Amino acid sequence: MQAAAAATANTNIDPAVREFLGRRMKMLIDGKWVDSVSGKTFQTIDPSTEESLAEIPDGNAEDVDRAVRAARRAFESGPWASMSASERGRAIWKLADLIEQHAEEFAQLETLDNGKPLSVARAADIPLVVDHFRYYAGWATKVEGETIPVSAPGMLAYTLREPVGVVGQIIPWNFPLLMLAWKLGAALACGNTVVLKPAEQTPLSALRFGELLDDAGIPPGVVNIVTGFGETAGAPIVDHPGIDKIAFTGSTEVGKSIMSAASKTLKRVSLELGGKSPNIVFADADLDEAAAGAAAAIYFNHGQCCCAGSRLFIEQKAYDKVMPKLIEYSEKISLGPGMDPATQMGPLVSSEQFTRVTGFLTAGQKEGATVATGGGRPSRFDKGYFVAPTVFTDVRPDMKVVREEIFGPVVCAIPFKDPEDVVRAGNETTYGLAAAVWTRDIGKAHRAARLLKAGTVWINCYNQFDAAAPFGGYKQSGFGREMGKAALDLYTQIKTVWVNTGA
Ligand code: NAI
Ligand code: MG
Repeated sequence: MQAAAAATANTNIDPAVREFLGRRMKMLIDGKWVDSVSGKTFQTIDPSTEESLAEIPDGNAEDVDRAVRAARRAFESGPWASMSASERGRAIWKLADLIEQHAEEFAQLETLDNGKPLSVARAADIPLVVDHFRYYAGWATKVEGETIPVSAPGMLAYTLREPVGVVGQIIPWNFPLLMLAWKLGAALACGNTVVLKPAEQTPLSALRFGELLDDAGIPPGVVNIVTGFGETAGAPIVDHPGIDKIAFTGSTEVGKSIMSAASKTLKRVSLELGGKSPNIVFADADLDEAAAGAAAAIYFNHGQCCCAGSRLFIEQKAYDKVMPKLIEYSEKISLGPGMDPATQMGPLVSSEQFTRVTGFLTAGQKEGATVATGGGRPSRFDKGYFVAPTVFTDVRPDMKVVREEIFGPVVCAIPFKDPEDVVRAGNETTYGLAAAVWTRDIGKAHRAARLLKAGTVWINCYNQFDAAAPFGGYKQSGFGREMGKAALDLYTQIKTVWVNTGA
């Protein structure tokens, strides 16, 4: 069965992807493709076969230093520094066009490297990336200062919104190209230059993306891509005195270490970290929609979403209606290699994540939770990091599986009696990235939206994203807002200019 699926998968690979994977991978520094200074490489793995896809340069502090110097030169002088805002906008728009022209290649690279179904990469990841760059292309000409009505006679005061400078961007593996777009779109629109480090699990789409920059008219040194591991390539970006700001998406643990390390050089920091999002179903909701929504909220991207609806609160009166549907959805999802057209859920990204997520499954059962469905790798798979969609019941608020981010297809179902108290229970977490409520009572929905301590609240929907809608965390889910106008604040600084008009 599995061998057949893998064979189907292989025959589907786009010739351009095959050709790309056959090349010797290099990093992008100052517009040139280079090996790592050390000459070392590491492998990136296809998580459905556990086989190597390519050898990737293993960057270190010396590579980072070269990239930072190139980014500094490109920021201070040369074509990017003198480019008009409208030219910058046109280049970003062109980048979007080029990604769209190569959409199938990018979708396949995401699927091979990350494991997600090709249908999802085609329908969600890549179109969102294209939209994102187009949206920020428009902002390039709209980054404006203000005139300030100061009191001193004869004085004119105005502000300029200037780029921050050289930005270090460290991204995760769950939506590799989309996370790159969230970081680069606003940074480039505002005129910054960048040293970007993709996750070690999924560097391929970023490297292919780097090949489009020149055709888009983005000068050498504006975007530098250093591949490598967190401690050896990520940390040197955070420590480098030539970097003005760090933008990070990933674990709360690494977010904390980045904030502390960045304090030594007082870099600006924006962090998009973990979550344990409450998804609240009231008995007066459309329960069919709510059950389907609850499944999508946790299983989208195999639960590898910072905003996954991992704590599902169901009003007691509706519990016996919602649960069978949720379990039916969970059991119907077809698990397999992302390149197989029949697949609805692929493997987890890596053996580390497989071990981490299955460790939570064991811990939950040890603490007394019941596995209502799922619970590990289905026996038909003898390789690949597959984990079946899993529902925990009989959980208590103090359990590890209820408190900690699992980052896999695992949801805790929690019945509640008191509709007035559920928001408090939903807020009982150190995180605050997202939340959702399902109800037909409009007043109740908006009251809950006000009370939930989360950067995004969805009402009768889940996982809605748009380049124009800000996204980011409350509490230990981080700070700073990506997307929308809000992201311009991350990538600009304000200069106040005073003019004595002599009046
Ligand atoms: P991670 O936080 O270690 O990795 C994310 C990025 O940070 C990668 O590019 C990595 O190379 C880099 N990094 C790691 N250590 C670093 C350091 N000391 N300095 C600078 N950069 C560093 O996340 P990991 O280990 O891949 O996943 C662990 C858990 O983190 C997951 O189970 C999940 O709970 C959470 N996570 C959350 C994400 C989100 O979207 N908020 C994305 C990925 C993981
Ligand atoms: Mg890590």
